[in-house]
Amino acid sequence: MSVSALSTPRALGGVSGLLQVASLLGLVLLLLKAAQLYLRRQWLLKALQQFPSPPSHWLYGHMQEFQDETELQPLLKWVEKYPSACARWLWGTKALVLIYDPDYIKVVLGRSDPKSHDSYRMLIPWIGKGLLVLEGQTWFQHRRMLTPAFHYDILKPYVGLMADSVRVMLDKWEELVSLDSHLEVLGHVSLMTLDTIMKCAFSHQGSIQTDRKIQSYIQAIKDLSNLSFSRVRNIFYQNDIIYRLSPEGRWSHRACQLTHQHTDEVIKMRKAHLQKEGELEKVRSKRHLDFLDILLFARMENGSSLSDRELRAEVDTFMFEGHDTTASGISWTLYALASHPEHQQRCREEIQSLLGDGTSITWDHLEQMPYITMCIKEALRLYPPVPFIFRDLSKPITFPDGRSLPAGVPLSLFFYGLHHNPKVWPNPEVFDPSRFALGSSQHSHAFLPFSGGSRNCIGKQFAMNEMKVAVALTLLRFELAPDPSRVPVPIPRVVLKSKNGIHLQLRKLL
Ligand code: HEM
Repeated sequence: MSVSALSTPRALGGVSGLLQVASLLGLVLLLLKAAQLYLRRQWLLKALQQFPSPPSHWLYGHMQEFQDETELQPLLKWVEKYPSACARWLWGTKALVLIYDPDYIKVVLGRSDPKSHDSYRMLIPWIGKGLLVLEGQTWFQHRRMLTPAFHYDILKPYVGLMADSVRVMLDKWEELVSLDSHLEVLGHVSLMTLDTIMKCAFSHQGSIQTDRKIQSYIQAIKDLSNLSFSRVRNIFYQNDIIYRLSPEGRWSHRACQLTHQHTDEVIKMRKAHLQKEGELEKVRSKRHLDFLDILLFARMENGSSLSDRELRAEVDTFMFEGHDTTASGISWTLYALASHPEHQQRCREEIQSLLGDGTSITWDHLEQMPYITMCIKEALRLYPPVPFIFRDLSKPITFPDGRSLPAGVPLSLFFYGLHHNPKVWPNPEVFDPSRFALGSSQHSHAFLPFSGGSRNCIGKQFAMNEMKVAVALTLLRFELAPDPSRVPVPIPRVVLKSKNGIHLQLRKLL
């Protein structure tokens, strides 16, 4: 008998033995994972027992309640039904506590819990580890380094640049409405706010509003905003490898590449400009540097420059945060004023008496628009551009009413719910700018469009200035009315959007 004839069955036996061991190992791993998930669910059930919510499915959580992507309307019903806070189950082993009471939010913003890993990590392939997602000492160093970019002396001359960008948009609107008075404004406003941030923070020369290439960047931001929102809610997309192989993951990867091409180009152009003779000295002699120049000149406390990766992360973060949020704020304010002609007219009279034809709006004018400011704040209350933020409790917490949660529970600070909470704002759905009249008083944590505490919005003043300039100049040129056939439906994304765009009817004023 030959040796090979003997060895074949033995080899086959060896393979099947190996297969048996592998299957057994697979089964053990599966059981261990199931036990881990079971224990996690039991732990969450116990931790959240003081925070009721509608019944949830053991596997799908509250998914059935949120079939419609609007999501905000069902959540507002919970705000009415469950005082201060409630638990939301994304699926059987993932839940978070939504909080929408000013006293609750005050306690959380007074602590230094980290941002929720599960939510913010989805943004990292897109905006990198910039100020928005950094933690600890690195966050502190970057925040300290970038704060001077929002100094009063820096913001002052930006008002003129903002007005230039708004005028380019309004000139375009004049041409468009001579053909059709209906306009979807959010797309135009996004282009305008991107133009503004490019000029102010990134020293970009000229307007990008007529550049067709830039549309692909805006589209990529829109896609990434939708994709990261959908990823957080999908149990199968939590694993990076599975997500990367999925159609949505590949789409997200392409969109990230597109946004990075744009920011790389911006950095390259500024670096090339600074190489020109005399430019470097000119910038060095300035008392305060623009945002991108701070980054390019940055020497961190330990003496080393920012790495290319860190630099790009900050540019990606500010490019996105600096335009998408303000575009949402301006567009919803225009919609609110279109729907309330009496407030619109009062704002127009205020700005007419201040500016006349509006050719020269300056920093000093911005403090002399009390009614426009009240209307912008009331619009930010009804339509907060950042509808939720997330934190992971790093230590146990006890809320003012005595309810408590252990470390490790994720929290969502639900600003949209806070701003629509009838216990905080009577008749919350009514647009009433007098809520923000001089002398009116509210809880310190009842109105938080820019969040609060140490991780509040670094661009708050910049954003308020831009919103005032945009609203004032628009009202000088156009009368706004809503489009009754296309009422916007707010939907939560990283930034508050409308399911069907923001459509207005515009009439040019003589
Ligand atoms: C209406 C406009 C804006 C709104 C409503 C808004 C809102 C917010 C909110 C709620 C946060 C807290 C986020 C969190 O804790 O996860 C935040 C943080 C931030 N915002 Fe804004 N923002 C606006 C405009 C801007 C602008 C114009 C810039 C930049 C030019 C900017 C840059 C940032 C950055 C970098 C952070 C992270 C700050 C940190 O963690 O230290 N934002 N913003």
